[in-house]
Amino acid sequence: MRPKTGILMINMGGPEKLEDVHDFLLRIFMDTDLMKLPVQNMLGPFIAKRRTPKIQERYRKIGGGSPIKHWTSTQGEGMVKLLDEMSPETAPHRYYIGFRYAHPLTEEAIEAMEKDGVERAVAFTQYPQYSCSTTGSSLNAIYRYYSKRGHGPKMSWSVIDRWPTHPLLVECFAEHIRNELLRFPEEKRDNVVVLFSAHSLPMAVVNRGDPYPQEVQATVQAVMERLGLCNPYRLAWQSRFGPMAWLGPQTDDTIKALCERGRKNILLVPIAFTSDHIETLYELDITYRQVLGEECGAEDIRRAESLNGSPLFMKALADLVQSHLAANEPCSRQLTLCCPLCTNLTCGEAKAFFTTQKLDHSLPVEAKTRDCVAI
Ligand code: FES
Repeated sequence: MRPKTGILMINMGGPEKLEDVHDFLLRIFMDTDLMKLPVQNMLGPFIAKRRTPKIQERYRKIGGGSPIKHWTSTQGEGMVKLLDEMSPETAPHRYYIGFRYAHPLTEEAIEAMEKDGVERAVAFTQYPQYSCSTTGSSLNAIYRYYSKRGHGPKMSWSVIDRWPTHPLLVECFAEHIRNELLRFPEEKRDNVVVLFSAHSLPMAVVNRGDPYPQEVQATVQAVMERLGLCNPYRLAWQSRFGPMAWLGPQTDDTIKALCERGRKNILLVPIAFTSDHIETLYELDITYRQVLGEECGAEDIRRAESLNGSPLFMKALADLVQSHLAANEPCSRQLTLCCPLCTNLTCGEAKAFFTTQKLDHSLPVEAKTRDCVAI
């Protein structure tokens, strides 16, 4: 049956097999929305090739590939099943996966949606907190797809661009933290440090006014308030690479420092991804919990389970889409504002593309594009 509503689940993706690692890295290092390198056409392929064996080794250690497609499919299936019941007026719903750096690529997903005759398309970011390097890059890719094709979409698009404090998302994280805290010995439990960890950003991105750090902090605060501020907590940042300055403190430095200060029971919480990926399975579980934990003399470092196949999380996704469709707005008001120091012309063009989509009863176009067309 022809889907009335197509939900494009956008995310970075990951290599499913070891032989996919090189192309995955190449797409990352060639993405000018994510990073600007000098002579990127030459340096990007060079770095991708040089890093491939090291990254392949990491994927080998977590079973030979990324589980992100598996989990996104599971979450998408759960979401549309609920949506068909919750919102019969916008049914049938179909989910599509649009990865930025792995198959199915964003462009492949859009083609499938157009071919299936979707009427109403929702670009639904799977990053709860917005960054121009992640969600922004995917939105720019959607805009570029149509701009290269030379004619507009047959379906009307809108965007769920951020949802850092959605009550069900907050409850999912809180539930997984509660469950894992119970695994610490009772006499230690109250003093366990809850250490939230999110992918770091280069300071150059933070300093141009990217909203990500603020939105990650909002999620952390909402989750801890939901838990009644039950334990001491901190937010740290992981996965930095290269010589430039990154947002800190780094998660590994934080673990070391906590152990030195005698806080040797730590609960790691991945707060900016909604399913397992290399940063949880390799970096948090192997590098930090096992290797670093032993080096630092930690008593117990545990990790809250990722949201993966959580039925409550699927409900959160369905609730987000249902409320978004009911509101009939092209995007959040936040999306209309470019980073104060943005110099990427595509950002403003992509925002204008989404905010001028024809949706019934939408707000006046001028009000929504004012900020970004000024760039
Ligand atoms: Fe943020 Fe362009 S980099 S809007």
